[in-house]
Amino acid sequence: MAPDLTDRIRCRQIRRKVVPADEAARLITNGMVVGASGFTPAGYPKAVPLAMAKRVELTGERPVIDLLTGASVGDELDGALVRAGILRKRLPYQTNTFIRQAINDGRVLFVDDHLSQVSQRCRCGHYGDIDVALVEAAMIDEEGGIVPTTSVGNSPSFVRQAKKVIVEINLSQPLDLVGIHDIYTPGDPPDRRAIPILSTGDRIGSPYISCDPDKIAAVVVTDIPDGVRPLAPVDDSARRMASHLIEFLRHEVKKSRLPENLLPLQSGVGNVANAVLAGLLDSGFEGMTFYSEVIQDSALDLLDAGKFTVASATSLSPSPERLPVMYANMRDYRGRLILRPQEITNSPEVIHRLGLIAMNTAIELDIYGNVNSTNIMGSTMMNGIGGSGDFSRNAYLTIFFAPSTAKGGSISTVVPMVSHVDHTEHEVNIVITEQGLADLRGRSPRERAAAIIENCAHPEYRTMLQDYFSRAERSGGHTPHLLKEALSWHLRYIETGTMRPAQALCAVPEPR
Ligand code: COA
Repeated sequence: MAPDLTDRIRCRQIRRKVVPADEAARLITNGMVVGASGFTPAGYPKAVPLAMAKRVELTGERPVIDLLTGASVGDELDGALVRAGILRKRLPYQTNTFIRQAINDGRVLFVDDHLSQVSQRCRCGHYGDIDVALVEAAMIDEEGGIVPTTSVGNSPSFVRQAKKVIVEINLSQPLDLVGIHDIYTPGDPPDRRAIPILSTGDRIGSPYISCDPDKIAAVVVTDIPDGVRPLAPVDDSARRMASHLIEFLRHEVKKSRLPENLLPLQSGVGNVANAVLAGLLDSGFEGMTFYSEVIQDSALDLLDAGKFTVASATSLSPSPERLPVMYANMRDYRGRLILRPQEITNSPEVIHRLGLIAMNTAIELDIYGNVNSTNIMGSTMMNGIGGSGDFSRNAYLTIFFAPSTAKGGSISTVVPMVSHVDHTEHEVNIVITEQGLADLRGRSPRERAAAIIENCAHPEYRTMLQDYFSRAERSGGHTPHLLKEALSWHLRYIETGTMRPAQALCAVPEPR
């Protein structure tokens, strides 16, 4: 029996546009630019992309498109389209194994833009015209207002700019989500005004995305749930990083450099960020707020425990076990949980005004405090810069975490020179590994190197790094480097499968 959609599609004119997914999929044709909802595998369209992939299988007809989203999406979108050979270009962030492989093979072009910039660039035409906005919704109201589901991302700008809009009403997303969104679109230069957020919980917009009903070309009804990802359990390394963080924050409060309830916190994506945030539960800090991009399990725990009084983000991305619990509590979160467009959560203006404590994860960091968040061994794309650049460049305090080693200890994440730079020594204030914390504020490059090697490097690599630094120091320079040796550091791993000492490489004489 067809579901009763009167609650979900309140505009009668739009209810008449409900079609099967394969019919809506036919509206997306070769060469189009598609802007889709979705941010971390939350709130992305599922039925239409699956139907597009199915059509390729059945007919051999393969439209090739450029796909813009908020950030990473689930396999029903990225995975299905890339396996069907439908994607030409993708931006601005991804975490799917198949698309990562295609990007690194050069089969899909990837644009690694700062997440705060995408909406503006879309409105200003930097990505070309948006042909179709494909957005998941919990509900469409009487006037055609689209209520998003578990993420907002760039959807307001995609809907505004697109020639046509396709909406997926997802029945697995509870109607209790209605009212948690705060949709606000700033003006573009030269007509931009201040974004009026003065504290984490301020609401400045409307609970839906405005859309002319005539622009909605099709509505598809589905119940495929968000393909959220499991999170690794909190391990000893994360517990140690969290305890270094908490000790540091207590010290800053004692020195009156932070208020007792801290400043609004931001926390990155992934296992490490989630595990470190978990440490704040028993830290004794109360009355904190969270102004971030993604809400994962630990942020929900802190909200449930009343440690966070309010949490603002652009996406709700809990683990699969946590998803139904979050849905069940959604009514209770109203007023304490706000989902905003990513150009607002990641706005340099707001981040700077609120004075965030930004906490993100690095793939590797160098002895001077430069951070690589994206490219393994300098060239293999992991996920993308995401919002880490938006937060790190504009926060009051910029903290990066990384376990001191990767790949079972065969890689040191502290290196002489990062193989790719996303965040420079100029914005990185604090680095933390399970070994310890280096406070880089007010420190020259030589002071930074001494602190990072001593406090953060794994003991197995510390001597090598000290040896490198002391020889580099003798060769002089403001940021002392032995270029040939620094550049060959990663080759140890590529050639031998480990970065552990290789005498032959250590001994390469530096040209003078
Ligand atoms: N060299 C090679 N591989 C490395 C590495 C290094 N120096 N450091 C980490 N890795 C590998 C890990 O081994 C792991 O690989 P696997 O999946 O094959 O086991 C993978 O990278 C992820 O590492 P993990 O320790 O599980 O970290 P994570 O899930 O916390 O993710 C980032 C870490 C850096 C990839 C992730 O935080 C990210 O994409 N950051 C950029 C975007 C960002 O910061 N957004 C937040 C803004 S709000």
